[in-house]
Amino acid sequence: MPITRFRGTTARRSSALVLILCTTAAGLAAVEKEPEAPAEVEARYGLDLVPYATVRRSDGSYRRMWTPPETFAAVAAGGPPPEGARILMETYYSPGRVSMVFHMEKVGGRWRYGAFPASSPDLATRPQASCISCHAGAAETDLVYTLPSLRAFASGRGASDFTCARGGRSPCDAETYRRGAPP
Ligand code: HEC
Repeated sequence: MPITRFRGTTARRSSALVLILCTTAAGLAAVEKEPEAPAEVEARYGLDLVPYATVRRSDGSYRRMWTPPETFAAVAAGGPPPEGARILMETYYSPGRVSMVFHMEKVGGRWRYGAFPASSPDLATRPQASCISCHAGAAETDLVYTLPSLRAFASGRGASDFTCARGGRSPCDAETYRRGAPP
């Protein structure tokens, strides 16, 4: 009996230890939680999406870019994103928590724009001067700042993860977006 009790105590102790470790791990995971797996993202937006880039800012916020794989062939061949291409950009002000989602869709050879809170997806897009005025800074890359990253990903060079050291959504220079893409 004493042995059994001893064993029982040990078992209880180790399960308590496991619980503490798990709780700590879960706590860390919550802090460092990477955005959801594509299946959950697909369910949320109703699109088959692949994450191709993360652009970080010095205040700790970051943006994650997603696109359906149909864009890959044209982009990997060196062309611009084709008709019907969509790019979604999730914004994160704290790790793992999506705030606004920005969306570009190519219709009739031109980009249309939309934005919605992650909690109520709305994939409607329209021409929007406020978006175009700033994206005009990426004229060399078809108004897509992260086109070098998209091209790298579509060519099998992996996803980008880099920092643009300017505040808010101020664009960095083209070189930053070029160098951010895996070689
Ligand atoms: C003040 C400039 C600015 C404005 C205004 C702006 N964007 Fe952007 N956007 C950027 C920058 C810069 C990036 C690249 C990511 C980064 O550096 O943080 C970007 C990236 C994106 C991307 C990912 C594709 C890409 O270009 O890399 C989408 C989608 C997007 N923006 C949609 C929108 C929509 C929709 C609007 C309007 C509601 C908008 N943006 C307004 C600066 C802007």
